[in-house]
Amino acid sequence: MQKATARAHPNIAFIKYWGNRDDNLRLPSNPSLSMNLAGVYTQTTVEWTDDLTSDSLDINGEPAAEEARMRVSNHLDRVRSRLNMTTRARVQSENNFPMGAGIASSAAAFAALTVAAVAAADVQLSERELSTIARMGSGSASRSVPGGFVEWFAADTHEESYAQSFAAPDHWDLHDVIAVVSTEHKKTGSQAGHRTAFTSDLQPARVAGAQARFDVCRQALLDRDFSSLATVVEEDSNLMHAVMMTSRPPLFYWQPTSLEIMHLVPEWRREGLNVCYTLDAGPNVHCLCTADAAEEVRNRLQNLSEVGEVRMTSPGGAAEIIS
Ligand code: PMV
Repeated sequence: MQKATARAHPNIAFIKYWGNRDDNLRLPSNPSLSMNLAGVYTQTTVEWTDDLTSDSLDINGEPAAEEARMRVSNHLDRVRSRLNMTTRARVQSENNFPMGAGIASSAAAFAALTVAAVAAADVQLSERELSTIARMGSGSASRSVPGGFVEWFAADTHEESYAQSFAAPDHWDLHDVIAVVSTEHKKTGSQAGHRTAFTSDLQPARVAGAQARFDVCRQALLDRDFSSLATVVEEDSNLMHAVMMTSRPPLFYWQPTSLEIMHLVPEWRREGLNVCYTLDAGPNVHCLCTADAAEEVRNRLQNLSEVGEVRMTSPGGAAEIIS
C-alpha cells in the first residue's frame, strides 16, 4: 500500500503546554494534559509517489499556501528519515470544522498526517512512537494521537516525550462549549509564541508549579471531581496568559468579550452550574462543563451579543486509519 487516509481530533488542554526546553525537537518545558474533541476532525490522505519531485499539499480541495506546504514537507522529512525513504508525497487534508471556529487545527493536522504517512508506507509503529513523531510537527499534536483524556510527558529526549491516554472518552462525559469571540487569524501563532515564553520573568514560576497542577488535574479527572478540576484548569490558563502578556514582545490574546466570559463563568459556577473556562493562544473561550450543564451554558453564551458561533463538543477518540 502506498496510500492511506487517517483521521484525528483536535484537543483542548486542561494543563497547558507553553515554551520548549528544545525548540527544534519540540520538547516541552512542562507536562500537559488534554481532552480530544469528538465530532470535529482533520482527515488526511497521504500517497507516496515516484512521479513527484516535491511534496504537494491540498487543504479542503485547494492547493495550500507555500508556508503550510513547507511545514508539512518538513514534517514528512522526519517520517522519511525514520522510515529510510526518499519518496515524495501527495497530501490531501480536510477539516470538518471551519478555520476560526476557536479550535486549533495544527494538533489534529499533524496527528492525522503522521498516522497517514506511516500507514501509507505500510509500516506499523507503536502509538507511543507515532505520538513522538507528531510532536515534532506541532507539540500539541502528540496529544491528538491517543484517545480520550491524554497526558504528554515533558522529558529531555525525543523518545521519552510522548503522550498517552490515561482515561477513555467514556470515562467522563465532559463537554467543551466553545464561545467564538473572533474568527480573525491570530497575528502571532503558537510556534513563534513558544519561542518567546522564557522572555517572561513569570515563565520559570509557571513551569515550576506545572507538575503539581498536572497531578491535581489528573486526579480530579480520575475522580470526576468537577470543583477541583475547575479551580486548577482556570488557574493554569490564567498562568499561561500571564506569561504571554509579560513576554517580550507581549502577547495579548484576550478580547474584551473573552474577559467578560471569564468573569461570568465563575459566577455561573457559584449558581450551581458545573462550568469552568480555559483559553488557548486566541480569544475564544472554551467552557468545560458536565453534560447536565452543557445546554444551559450554550444558551447563556449564545445570549451574549458579542459572541458569534457557539460550538459544543465532547470527549473524542484516538487518531485512526480510515482506509
Ligand atoms: O502545539 P502548538 O504549538 O499549537 O501549541 C499549543 C499551545 C496551546 O494551545 C496554547 C496550549 C496547549 O497545551 O495546547
